[in-house]
Amino acid sequence: MSTTDFYKQFIVDLDLVEQASHNPYYHEVQAELSDEIIIEGKPFVDLASNNYLGIANRPELKQACKDAIDQYGASLCATPVCSGYSELHHQVEQKIAEFTGTEQALIYPSCYQANLGLFAAISKPEDVALVDRCAHSSLLEGLKNSGCKISPFKHNDMNHLETLLQNCVGTLHATSLPKYRTIFVVTESVFSTEGTIASFAEINELCLKYNAIPIVDDSHGIGVLGAHGRGILEHSGISGYQGIYTASLGKALANIGGVICSKPSLMQWMQYYSSNLVYSTAILPSALAGVEKVLDIISDEFPELSKRMWNAKKRIEAALIVANFDLTNGAAPITSIKAGNSLQTLELSKVFWDKRIMTTAFVYPSVPQNEGRIRLIAGANMREETLQRTEEAIKSIKPH
Ligand SMILES: Cc1ncc(COP(=O)(O)O)c(C=O)c1O
Repeated sequence: MSTTDFYKQFIVDLDLVEQASHNPYYHEVQAELSDEIIIEGKPFVDLASNNYLGIANRPELKQACKDAIDQYGASLCATPVCSGYSELHHQVEQKIAEFTGTEQALIYPSCYQANLGLFAAISKPEDVALVDRCAHSSLLEGLKNSGCKISPFKHNDMNHLETLLQNCVGTLHATSLPKYRTIFVVTESVFSTEGTIASFAEINELCLKYNAIPIVDDSHGIGVLGAHGRGILEHSGISGYQGIYTASLGKALANIGGVICSKPSLMQWMQYYSSNLVYSTAILPSALAGVEKVLDIISDEFPELSKRMWNAKKRIEAALIVANFDLTNGAAPITSIKAGNSLQTLELSKVFWDKRIMTTAFVYPSVPQNEGRIRLIAGANMREETLQRTEEAIKSIKPH
């Protein structure tokens, strides 16, 4: 193939964007996150970021990041297995394990990388993974790369999950060999596009009953769910969790990075055999210090932050209902509009954009065909005047 032909393969089809006269992706942000976000010189209401607790621009958080730069420099310029593993890294891992109610934590540069690394390390073609059909791309990609059999269950449908579990246990026909070496059950805690919350207490019980390993991605639950913001395990009343837990540190925790938490034996094994950890430069010290500060802020202020976050979610949701939008009705502080096919989704995102409201548009393949979503996340930092302005703007929008 000629060089010209090689590069010709990579042409993005922008037909839909042209038809909608709007591209909702890759806008350049020009300032820090408050309840407004500056894009192309103009203020937009920020209903797009995952800044659930609204603390990404807190002065004490920024100061903690700067102090870590003063102490450790911008980067340790090494993978964690070599000289990239600081005492701060170790300290934050311990703090996260304690916070989430798990035994031990390992910090990766991102949760996408953590999820890929997890399945690369633990699953094999002789395993099966029962996965919620709405699970995040990082979980699905990790599973696909590992070659294990993937069997999706209907979104949050415990009866369907149990039927699949019943089919997976037992032995191969006319042999004493088990059908699968390991059965994994994989779910998000809060589904990022739907705003629904997994019935994780039930999933955990089913796993105990059928000897399966539960794996939950709590990226949108950590810092959000539970009486103290400790995430899905606290929310589900689970103690002594025997499964695997992953989460992003870049959403409510307002930094960057990902964690895997589980039993010390698996964590130690991953420290040496997880390529995504061993061969990738360690997360920056400034992000570690940032996470540590956010955990302190959550300990001190969660009741108030949570009250404000829920108030903002309820106000935005109520305005959308009055305006006759069809919502997914998730129980998490994510409000998602069922927007139809990809073109309709881009068109609706433009309507919000024109009202200077920044939302997130999900189109296929991020969501199934014709199940486009416009997602709105209102953080705890929404000021009353911004909320009122947003409510008024939403009421003036007509659903298509
Ligand atoms: C459910 C879920 N898992 C994993 C990720 C990836 O997290 P990170 O941004 O830390 O790579 C995301 C972020 O988009 C997510 O929503």
